[in-house]
Amino acid sequence: MLLLDTLELNPTPRRPVWIMRQAGRYLASYRKLREKYSFDDFANQVDLAVQVSLLPLKQYELDAAIVFSDILLPLRCMGLKLSFEETGPVIVAPKTLEDINKLKFEFDPETQTPVIMGSLKELRKQIPKEKALLGFAGAPFTMLVYLLEGELSKDLGVVRTWLRKDPKTCHRLLDFLANAMGNYLDAQARAGADAVQLFDTWASILGPADYEEFALPYARRVISQVTVPSVYYINGMGSLFEQAQAVGAQALSVDWRTPLGEARNRISQVVALQGNLDPYHLLLPRAQLREAVFEMCNSYGKDPGHIVNLGHGIVPNIPEESVSYFIESVHEWSQVLA
Ligand code: CP3
Repeated sequence: MLLLDTLELNPTPRRPVWIMRQAGRYLASYRKLREKYSFDDFANQVDLAVQVSLLPLKQYELDAAIVFSDILLPLRCMGLKLSFEETGPVIVAPKTLEDINKLKFEFDPETQTPVIMGSLKELRKQIPKEKALLGFAGAPFTMLVYLLEGELSKDLGVVRTWLRKDPKTCHRLLDFLANAMGNYLDAQARAGADAVQLFDTWASILGPADYEEFALPYARRVISQVTVPSVYYINGMGSLFEQAQAVGAQALSVDWRTPLGEARNRISQVVALQGNLDPYHLLLPRAQLREAVFEMCNSYGKDPGHIVNLGHGIVPNIPEESVSYFIESVHEWSQVLA
């Protein structure tokens, strides 16, 4: 399997490629289904979740499928009110310590998130065996951000105020989230995920000492509970590379701000890297897009261990044919490896 071989740093005949948020609104087939069904319909029914997960694989030569779900859904199991609106997710955040104390500090993935488990089982049967099936979760710190912020405030001032005014409560929530997300990812592995991605999207708002206190140990605990290889993502990892490798993931998923070659130089451990085209570079004309892909692959170099992806999720205004050009360019570049 190209993707697993790459995670294990074994040589492959070409670079594996998949796209964060590949089952999303840039796809006409997704938008068409969305006219009939809500986001929650997709997330609550195995047959729909499977159908949506497979949409991008029908259209493109992708090397992985990612199960359709959302990192925020486990927050509902804690008793938080969450809805998916046109503008994005809306969470009713707890305002006081009393509100937090009323949350449910129990999470059993098998019984509380049966749809994601059922979807993974079904997807593993339906996708070709050379393609990887990916599970995912939000890292504890990033889950804490959404839990306390609700709708994200400017500079994430709400969560940063909680960290300073009541670190004890933050640690209590993070401790719970670390065990919960660890169990969640391992349940996904048992249901058929070949590898998992842990999204710590917002961890880069923290300085090094706060990252060490509020993000790193909890993300590490999640990863240590998972029995399949894992990929760890931070949007803006550049300020945290040296620390992020201590999370213990097989791969770091790098955003577009740091060239992969530079990332490799800064990471002392030998890990795979995933990424990292700027999602908006998919709007470039075909020839320039090809150049950008070549630059990214050349920056990593010919060594094994590069999973091609974007530096963050694909956005709705990307033309569908650009995704084909992106993948074709990766394949074309990969000929240097043969
Ligand atoms: O295709 C895939 O990657 C699998 C499914 C997936 C979704 N969300 C579906 C989704 C995954 C892996 C996610 C991860 C996710 N969700 C993250 C971490 C990655 C990142 O982007 O940093 C975060 C922070 C979320 C929370 C979230 N969910 C946001 C901020 C939004 C709104 C923005 C947007 O892109 O629409 C969502 C909604 C969402 N999650 C959609 C999809 C396909 C769009 C919903 C719709 O159909 O209206």
